Amino acid sequence: MQFTVRCTIAYLCAGIVSLLSVAPSRGDECVSMKRDRHRTLMEEYRHSPNWDGFLTEDTLNLRQNETEVDLSRQGFKEVHWHLSSIVGDGYEIFELNLAFNNLEELNELTFLKFYSLETLNLSNNRLQTISNLTFGSLIRLVELDLSFNLIHTLERQAFDRLYALESLSLRENCLVTLAPNQFHFNDHLSSVLLDHNQLAFLPPILFDPITMVDEIYELDLSDNNFRRMPYIETKEIALLKIDNNHIETLTVNKSFNVRALQIQHNNIYDADLFKFNRAEHIDLSHNNLDNIVGLHEMNQLEYLDLSSNNVSKFDYNLKYSIRNIPSLVTLRLQNCSLSEHNIGGLLASDSILNLDLSQNNFVRLNVSDLSRMRSLQYLSLNFNYLRELISYERLGHEFPFLELVSLSFNRWNCTYYDQLNAYLNRTHIRSTSDPRDCYINGTHVTDSYVTDAFEPQYTMNHIKRDMTVLRNLGRNTIYFMYALFSTIRGQGNETALHQQRLDGQLHDLERDVDRLLGMLAFLVAIFAAVLFVAVVYGGWRLVRKWQHDRTVKVVTYNKRANEFSNGVTVNDVIRDNSTA
Ligand SMILES: *[C@@H]1O[C@H](CO)[C@@H](O)[C@H](O)[C@H]1NC(C)=O
Ligand SMILES: *[C@@H]1O[C@H](CO)[C@@H](O)[C@H](O)[C@H]1NC(C)=O
Ligand SMILES: *[C@@H]1O[C@H](CO)[C@@H](O)[C@H](O)[C@H]1NC(C)=O
Ligand SMILES: *[C@@H]1O[C@H](CO)[C@@H](O)[C@H](O)[C@H]1NC(C)=O
Ligand SMILES: *[C@@H]1O[C@H](CO)[C@@H](O)[C@H](O)[C@H]1NC(C)=O
Ligand SMILES: *[C@@H]1O[C@H](CO)[C@@H](O)[C@H](O)[C@H]1NC(C)=O
Ligand SMILES: *[C@@H]1O[C@H](CO)[C@@H](O)[C@H](O)[C@H]1NC(C)=O
Ligand SMILES: *[C@@H]1O[C@H](CO)[C@@H](O)[C@H](O)[C@H]1NC(C)=O
Ligand SMILES: *[C@@H]1O[C@H](CO)[C@@H](O)[C@H](O)[C@H]1NC(C)=O
Ligand SMILES: *[C@@H]1O[C@H](CO)[C@@H](O)[C@H](O)[C@H]1NC(C)=O
Ligand SMILES: *[C@@H]1O[C@H](CO)[C@@H](O)[C@H](O)[C@H]1NC(C)=O
Repeated sequence: MQFTVRCTIAYLCAGIVSLLSVAPSRGDECVSMKRDRHRTLMEEYRHSPNWDGFLTEDTLNLRQNETEVDLSRQGFKEVHWHLSSIVGDGYEIFELNLAFNNLEELNELTFLKFYSLETLNLSNNRLQTISNLTFGSLIRLVELDLSFNLIHTLERQAFDRLYALESLSLRENCLVTLAPNQFHFNDHLSSVLLDHNQLAFLPPILFDPITMVDEIYELDLSDNNFRRMPYIETKEIALLKIDNNHIETLTVNKSFNVRALQIQHNNIYDADLFKFNRAEHIDLSHNNLDNIVGLHEMNQLEYLDLSSNNVSKFDYNLKYSIRNIPSLVTLRLQNCSLSEHNIGGLLASDSILNLDLSQNNFVRLNVSDLSRMRSLQYLSLNFNYLRELISYERLGHEFPFLELVSLSFNRWNCTYYDQLNAYLNRTHIRSTSDPRDCYINGTHVTDSYVTDAFEPQYTMNHIKRDMTVLRNLGRNTIYFMYALFSTIRGQGNETALHQQRLDGQLHDLERDVDRLLGMLAFLVAIFAAVLFVAVVYGGWRLVRKWQHDRTVKVVTYNKRANEFSNGVTVNDVIRDNSTA
């Protein structure tokens, strides 16, 4: 015990020292590397008449009074402070695109009067710092794209006035950390992209979970420098991506409300899932798993990917957990050093429909070893060394629901393989494999095309795609859609190849949304009374909170409404700014 404590302290000190010594130089390196990349990229626009020019009122040339202004790919070097004077006098710009320019600095005057701006695209510039007042006027901004810059510093209050912000992209910058409470006032945030930075740790309090309007739909922390799993206080995160970091243990202290966790391509040897027991989708592939606990309590888990780990190190955990996950539909054990010697008794489940055993070391596989997975519909055995599928004539009996089996890229003897395929032909089971992918007298006849992309019926990509469609319909629908997806997925038991049919269903679903909105109205009526009580209670809580910290806190905010529920009006903010 003492030993571990001492070790931890020593480790921490070493960590801090190395951080202190490495961080600045690495930050500089990042900045100069990304600056070079930007320069190269911009060469294409060097011939623009505005190359290295000032963006002024004249260059803007707003004769048509457009509300959407595209000034991207011009090579502007600076935005003249005077620019703001053209907006304001009854003239509004909702969308401003400044992507692919050479902007290096913005100040508090740059966007001073752009009160109506809803979308601002500053991606692919050379910004390094976002200071407190840079976006101090953009109270209606919904979407802010700062990706592909050189940002290493975000001041603590950089986003404090962005009350309406829903989507923030800081991808591909040089951030090392964020300030505590960085998103405290951004109660509508649903998408935060921070991938491809230098992030090594995050303060636990970034958001204000009490007043956040909705779940965070996506938080992307992939391709950073995390060595420990960060804990982030929020209402709920639908999709947390933290793949391609250097995390070694997946463990957090408090319950972490994440529905889909993508933590593949780290160095995780110890995974403690007890605090993630609400997750539906976990990708732990390409790690170094030695121990995995808490699996048996994951009673909402539908998708589990443990590919490219050495299963013999955690087969004990697996053996006693998998069968206890009642909702598990897809299990992937690709490239897990599985063979006929360690598969026996390993897998049992009443719910798994899709099982991926490709890229393992099977030479012979006894069908009976998988017989405790009776609901199986799709089995992939591609890329093994199979010569024999023992008792294949029992496939139809052991797996009454099996629809598809993939056997490509193995070592089949053609005579044997013909018999196997003939058997499959007599059953309801289809094969995606090329029947000539086999050996005659030691000579390989032909390769297969791998036609079956192993995709679970229900992936985050589906949801993501449809979320985009739905975003315009109002954000509350997202919850309903999510519930609906789960239902559809539960009902549909088709295999991966029936994706098109599923797509059809998804389209129907989109139409159903209209009806859903009607239902919503009905629900709202029912909840009105409850809401009233809640509002009174909430009001009381708020007053207490107000007394507690006295910070101005926006509680409700409607796009284009002129005031916030705490009495701050747009005019107040404008006045604030002009005195600043
Ligand atoms: C642009 O706006 C100005 C001032 O609001 C107005 O006088 C002018 O007619 C508008 N021009 C067009 C083309 O709409
Ligand atoms: C910003 O502009 C870039 C380049 O045109 C584009 O790829 C990106 O999607 C834009 N961002 C948003 C949020 O529209
Ligand atoms: C930005 O705001 C933070 C927090 O209020 C403050 O500590 C910092 O000094 C401010 N930065 C500048 C440049 O004013
Ligand atoms: C968990 O809590 C312990 C003690 O409270 C602390 O030492 C440790 O760093 C925490 N771990 C994480 C991952 O936050
Ligand atoms: C298979 O897993 C090993 C580690 O167990 C990994 O090094 C290797 O890259 C993986 N191979 C593929 C093709 O993913
Ligand atoms: C997997 O682990 C077993 C036993 O620990 C070992 O014999 C085997 O070499 C490992 N396989 C790989 C690919 O590392
Ligand atoms: C296949 O497994 C079953 C059940 O474990 C066993 O009875 C049978 O002998 C095995 N067949 C071969 C050829 O090993
Ligand atoms: C291929 O399989 C057939 C039938 O199982 C067997 O008779 C034959 O000897 C095998 N050939 C080779 C080269 O293994
Ligand atoms: C099954 O066998 C029949 C007759 O031998 C053949 O016409 C048919 O194409 C085969 N079907 C498949 C899926 O291989
Ligand atoms: C395979 O070998 C057997 C016996 O040596 C021979 O009769 C047969 O023609 C060979 N088949 C092919 C396709 O070469
Ligand atoms: C799959 O669906 C069909 C009809 O839609 C049903 O008869 C069958 O029992 C289902 N299979 C499973 C494993 O639920």
